[in-house]
Amino acid sequence: HVDAGALTALPKAELHLHIEGTLEPELILELAARNGIALPFPTLELLHEQYQFTDLQSFLDLYYANMAVLVTADDFTDMTRAYLRRAKECGVRHAEIMFDPQAHVARGVELATAVNGIAAALATSVADFGISTELIAAFLRDESEGSALEVLEELLAMKAPIIGIGLDSAEVGNPPSKFIRLYKRAAEAGLRLVAHAGEEGPPSYVEDALNLLGVERIDHGIRAVEDRILVKRLVREQTPLTVCPLSNVRLRAVDTLAAHPLPQMISAGLNVCVNSDDPAYFGGYVSANFEALAAEFGWDVATVELLAGNSIRSSFASVARKAELL
Ligand code: HPA
Ligand code: ZN
Repeated sequence: HVDAGALTALPKAELHLHIEGTLEPELILELAARNGIALPFPTLELLHEQYQFTDLQSFLDLYYANMAVLVTADDFTDMTRAYLRRAKECGVRHAEIMFDPQAHVARGVELATAVNGIAAALATSVADFGISTELIAAFLRDESEGSALEVLEELLAMKAPIIGIGLDSAEVGNPPSKFIRLYKRAAEAGLRLVAHAGEEGPPSYVEDALNLLGVERIDHGIRAVEDRILVKRLVREQTPLTVCPLSNVRLRAVDTLAAHPLPQMISAGLNVCVNSDDPAYFGGYVSANFEALAAEFGWDVATVELLAGNSIRSSFASVARKAELL
């Protein structure tokens, strides 16, 4: 068995984290007051009542609504620093953070406000929190590819400090094949490629993300276990899968934590790691995910070390940084 202190002390990387999903209810209310924004759920009590989700979409509705409080660059900086502070307490030493540029532009927030606000916190993350960081622009798969391409061109033109692109939001009905030109353009620009696939969507979306988009890492990927041939390939290629157990339980992608396929994925030899996804919405940061798993499955230190090691090895950190953390 592993105690909580040992879990936290283990150096780890967080590779699947939406910065907008780290907006805690308290900070939502604070930013709403600061910016004079009237919220539909203006008290902590009313807000807390909204956090019972039935599927991905029911979460996304609240997630996008709460973003209304993010107005100034300082709001984005404060949100990002709050995450880094909590991540440090979890033993996170490297974080690859996604943000949803289209969700902000659609609300009338300038792209530069979001980018510069987040980047300001990331620029000093090593000095402030001992966490090396990278930024990933995630595109909304329920929006058009044209909209994504427009925003990508703007990000490239402003030389936004992004290491790669991702694909998130409502998965079913929005397959990877919709975004072939987007990923081709990002690859040409030298960006790293990841995508959500196999969270609610079928195993074929995982396969298509690899074959059609050329992604080097899959976010979630849990439904890959339904396809034996795909599992064999993912094991052979050691494709990183950034699994988010508490998210999967809260969004009903799995019935219970006990029924989560992670133990089966580890046994199969898949390259899996543990992440928090949207920790302010799903019941905890990365340590809470590790603790729940270790308690549920009675894991030993070796299992936890394997998963933490996978997260560092699967990151886009430099060879030198990886060596420092492994
Ligand atoms: N899945 C898809 N899109 C998202 C998520 C998620 O868990 N979080 C934020 N956007
Ligand atoms: Zn996600």
